Amino acid sequence: MFTARVITVSDRSYRGERPDAGGPLVKELLTAAGYEVDGIVVVPDEDAQIRQALMQGAAEDIALIVTTGGTGFAPRDVTPEATLAVCTRMTPGIPEAMRAASMAITPRAMLSRGVAGICERSLIINLPGSPKAAKENLEAVLPALEHGLTMLRGKPMDCAKL
Ligand code: MTE
Repeated sequence: MFTARVITVSDRSYRGERPDAGGPLVKELLTAAGYEVDGIVVVPDEDAQIRQALMQGAAEDIALIVTTGGTGFAPRDVTPEATLAVCTRMTPGIPEAMRAASMAITPRAMLSRGVAGICERSLIINLPGSPKAAKENLEAVLPALEHGLTMLRGKPMDCAKL
């Protein structure tokens, strides 16, 4: 089982003006897929705070860090830039697969600028912010992630055998 953390990037959720709907849904999907999700961190659409949350997850050796929100064209959408800044190796196949699958659902899928990459031993994946879009994007790549994480980190730990 790999560890995972969800980071919701939203000014309004950070200020308590809108409940975080996307983060809990992403957590639920990851948990159902077998990840041990330790929590949801809510940060505003601020480059420095997004980077800090990502680097914190990598420093804690979280295997999979999934962000939701801040991937569009609005002036404050900077999640991809913060992710690029902390990753040393990019994994373009992941956003390519997400957008390819999503284009079959809506042409607006091309408007997500989300990226994915590796920071230390953590894989970071950006999802769009709406719960519907986050779910559709995550489901497009979930089946391949365990193999990628196993390449990155070695075998998933089987607690029962410890
Ligand atoms: N991808 C899927 N699968 N389904 C969607 O409804 N919405 C798009 C896109 N990707 C969407 C999607 C829209 S309208 C936008 S603006 C971008 O994701 C960016 O969303 P964000 O700014 O909330 O991150």
